[in-house]
Amino acid sequence: MVVDSQQGSLFAVPEPAADLANLRERCDACRRCGLAAGRQQVVISRGNPHARLMVIGEGPGAQEDATGLPFVGRAGQLLDQMLASVSLDSNQDVYICNVVKCRPPDNRKPTPEEMRACEPWLAIQIEAVDPPVVILAGATALEGVLGIRGGITRLRGQWHPWQGRWVMPVFHPSYLLRNPSRQKGSPRWLTWQDLQEVRRRLEAMTSGAAAPPG
Ligand code: URA
Repeated sequence: MVVDSQQGSLFAVPEPAADLANLRERCDACRRCGLAAGRQQVVISRGNPHARLMVIGEGPGAQEDATGLPFVGRAGQLLDQMLASVSLDSNQDVYICNVVKCRPPDNRKPTPEEMRACEPWLAIQIEAVDPPVVILAGATALEGVLGIRGGITRLRGQWHPWQGRWVMPVFHPSYLLRNPSRQKGSPRWLTWQDLQEVRRRLEAMTSGAAAPPG
């Protein structure tokens, strides 16, 4: 996979990530769950596969299904803005994907079975990109990746050691769109604190001041 944008990012590793090249082909052929029947496109990723930060969301919505790219609708724009507010460029510094790669009808939450069916594809992405830091955007990502149901309000902003990586759950950008206040203590304000903490951890890991979890 050719990535022009990796040049100049502090938070991208120079070595090529493991081969993601045939992931689209394999996902296009995937019929592991019922979501395949309703999709226009499989939505795999955007951003930099060499990035040291991965953002994992829930699943594609209408615009993602139409374009084949994750987080390109309003929630995605907010995600990009919030990352930019801590000087993280979503094209260079981040690899963005979802727990499920096909759009659930009516934007419903993916079922546990659908998340399980899609797990091998996410596992390939995580192994290939090998990010030391992962953001789980919303309760579904928290459930799909860490297997924790509920608790996003309690667990957001906390680091979870997982498979040798630091994982941080944060509120989903769609939730933040519904809660636009930026006042101290609001969901947006809390998410901004969380992203600043992510930035600090990336800096510390890049400088060698922090290590992956043992
Ligand atoms: N919400 C998500 O969780 N993922 C997307 O790709 C878009 C919206």
